Parts: sequence; structure tokens; C-alpha cells
Amino acid sequence: MEKQIKISSKLQKAREYEKCALKKGTVTPKQDFHACVPVGWMNDPNGFSEYNGEKHLFFQYHPYNTAWGPMHWGHMKTTDFIRWENMPVALAPDKKYDGFGCFSGSAVEWKGRHVLAYTGVERRKEEDGQCKDYQMQCIAVGDGINYEKIKANPVITGDKIPEGDSVFDFRDPKIWVEGDTIYMVVGNRSKDGSGQILLYKTTDLKNWEFVTVLDKCNNRYGKMWECPDFFRLEGEDILIVSPQEMEARELEFHAGEGTIYILGNFEKEKAAFTEKVIRPLDMGLDFYAPQTMLTSDGRRIMIAWLQAWCASWFDERDGFCGMMTLPRELHMKNGILCQNPVRELESYYRNKVELKEIVPRETYQKYDELSGRVQNLDILLDGEEAYQFEIRLAADDVHYTAIKYDKKEQILTFDRSTSGVRRDAAHERSMRVLSNDRIVKLRIVMDRYSIELFVNDGEQAMTSVIRTPIEANGVYMKTQGNVKVSVTKYDICLL
Ligand code: FRU
Repeated sequence: MEKQIKISSKLQKAREYEKCALKKGTVTPKQDFHACVPVGWMNDPNGFSEYNGEKHLFFQYHPYNTAWGPMHWGHMKTTDFIRWENMPVALAPDKKYDGFGCFSGSAVEWKGRHVLAYTGVERRKEEDGQCKDYQMQCIAVGDGINYEKIKANPVITGDKIPEGDSVFDFRDPKIWVEGDTIYMVVGNRSKDGSGQILLYKTTDLKNWEFVTVLDKCNNRYGKMWECPDFFRLEGEDILIVSPQEMEARELEFHAGEGTIYILGNFEKEKAAFTEKVIRPLDMGLDFYAPQTMLTSDGRRIMIAWLQAWCASWFDERDGFCGMMTLPRELHMKNGILCQNPVRELESYYRNKVELKEIVPRETYQKYDELSGRVQNLDILLDGEEAYQFEIRLAADDVHYTAIKYDKKEQILTFDRSTSGVRRDAAHERSMRVLSNDRIVKLRIVMDRYSIELFVNDGEQAMTSVIRTPIEANGVYMKTQGNVKVSVTKYDICLL
């Protein structure tokens, strides 16, 4: 008979709190079709995985208020990546080794059980009276609802880190299964003060062997590398990391926290990874800590936190703070990692509207047939010569979010300066469009408080939050120069 999993009082308290708070509901309505925190605060996606034929998403969770606090793991499930079902809180910081928080991690199915790998953070008082946060890797095993932290925890501690590297920045394990072995990549900070990714393996969950330093930042892309992911996709070995404290380099890498992908070559026998190309993963204002999973139908799907650490647009007055991006299918095209919304989104398309080869005027013109806040717009720009195209979304008399494309410069700009945000943070970002074909494709996926922009079949993406009042739903366009614009619009309806 299956052993009953014991629930700690801390976990029970979080579950009950969540249940009551859910009954009350949030003040501000949440997103329509993006995974959102049930109540309180959410950051990184964790444990994005399939188990027993079901798709699970866990997340960094502080249910008790809308600010980051002692980290729990919240839990939800989905059948199609669009509708999300809330599940009871999965992990609480209820052990000595994770008392300061159950930080980010991942999950796999292993011998019929759902295995979670996470970072336990323990705050210890040093001899000099100072407090230090030690980070260690831990395992919990469960049945899709309840999870038990194993006795051998913490399974990877400072003694399995290369000598002299940080025991305080050692977090966010991403695990995957190959035959009888589970592999793990973890973010760490090396002696030079910048990030590195450590690779480990095990065959029994308890005894982990250090394999190698998979890659090093060498102070090139930010400092600490958080939330690594490592997988093979269509012949490429891909490492994704979220660097902290990046410096901007022209348009390519913006300052602060960002995400990059590293295309490389992994020689398994030598355990050696060689970098080939490094690019930003999403150039928007709110995209961090992405994590991927492999579905049973063979798709590599990525989801990320739709927020930036330096800017959170929701608070106590809303009753929640935290949402995820739309899950995106990844594939390779001409050496570029492309990301497109999961195909399941299309089954929620309603009310098709088509505008074919129109030429918007040089001053803003309203297109009533394109109005909406929860919708998908596919835009084709057809023009050889220099031209400029601008679209305003979520617009009313005072608000709008603008997307501008300058064909000659090949620069695309996203601007939410007048999108209802009240804090002095970055509101505009530009990127150089990689392809210079005659047709430029823009796909805009809007939910109540987010705009996800995909360029040229997902070769590039820009994801951002907007706080525009929900009634602002106008769409305006203008052009300058010789360009024809075609638009296909669908409402996205979950009812
Ligand atoms: C990234 C991160 C992780 C950490 C978690 C804590 O956003 O800083 O490195 O595990 O958030 O909530």
C-alpha cells in the first residue's frame, strides 16, 4: 500500500489560507488566458513538466501578500496550456535546510513518481554574528498532489561545488532524465564574481556526482546566472540563463536582469560545452526566468515569468501580483531559436476580421474592426523601400501602447510610456530585426495586462506588461512611405 504523505503545519496553513483567499477573489480581475497567481505573489515558473499524462506548473509563491516573502511552491495543472486549474500548495519552507525558502527548481517523472528538485535556502548565524543564506539542492517526491521531501536532503551542498566558488549563490536546479540517469544543471557564482553553470548526475536521487562546469560567464553577460535550462533541439545544444546585473550593449542586451540563449555544442563523452552564438531570448520589458518542458508529443515548450524584478505593476490593491507568459513552442530556423505561442491557442480564436493590403494614412487612423484587449493580431508588412509603420494598441483618449517599425533602420520599438504605469521605470525598448525580407510579420498576442510580440515567425520576441484601464481597447495605425498592411484579427474567448 502507498505510504501516506505527511503534510506539515506550515504547508497546511498555506493551503488553508489560499483556499479562503480564493473564495474572496481578487479586486482586479486577473488575465483571461495566462497562468496567474491564485492570490499573493508569484515569480519564476518551476517544475514545468508532464506527470502521469498531465501537465504541471509550479511557481515561486508567497500566498500571504503581494510582495516576495518566504518562498513556497504554488501548483497548477493544464490540459492545453491555456486553461489553468489551481492545485493545493506543493511545498512550504518547513525544514531547517529550506527554512528561508524553497527557491526555484524543476521536475521530472521518474519511476512512476513526480520528482521535484529545488533550492533549499537556510539562513545561518555566523560566528561574527552576521547572517548568511546558504543555498543547497533538495529533492521532493510526490503523486501529483502531495510531495515529500526526501530524508537525504539536502542532496547537494557546498562540498560538491568547485573549491572557492559561492555557497550563497548556488540555485535553480533544472533536471532531465536520460536512461537510468537524472542530470541537473544549477546556477552558481564563481571566484571571479560572475555566473557559471554546474552539471551533476545521479542514478538514485540521493547521491549526486559533480560532472563539470558546463559554461562560465567570465563577466561577459551580467553577474550571477540564474535559472539555467539545458536541452537539445533539432541538432543544437541550447543553454538558457537569466543573468543578473547585465550591462546594455547598444540594443542587444538591456541593462538589469535579462535572459540569453547560448547555442553550442555539447560533447557528452568529454562533458564539454562549446559556445557558438549568444543572443537575447526576449527583448521586452517583462520576461525572466524561463523554463522549458518536453511534451509527450515531442514539443519543447517554454514558459517565463511575465514580470521584471525592477518593476511590478500590481500590489495589495489588486489582490495579486504575478503572471506567466503564454507557453511557447520552440524550434530552430536558420540558426535562430524561434518561439511561437502554443498551437492550442488557435482553438480559442473567434470572430475573424481581415484587412487586406491596406495603406494607412500618415496620421493616426482608428480601425474599429480591430478593437479589443484579449486578442491575436497577425500583421504582414509588405514594402521594399524605406517605410515606417506604427500601431497603437489598448488605446483610449489618453492611453496607448505603441509598436513602431522602421524598415530602413530595421528597428522595431515597443513603447508603453502611456500604458497606465505609475512608476518611473523603463517603458521603451528597441531591437534590430534579424531578417530583412520583403515581408515583415508581426504577431501580437494581447491579454488584459500583457502584450507579447513575435517577429517573423518567432525569430524574435518582446514581452511586456501594460496597466492600461481595461476599457481602453482602440487600435490605430499609420504609415509613411510605400507599404501595404494586411491584418488578421481574432478575439481569444475562453467562455
Ligand atoms: C529568479 C530568482 C531565483 C530564485 C528565486 C527566488 O527570479 O532570483 O534565482 O531561486 O528567484 O524566488
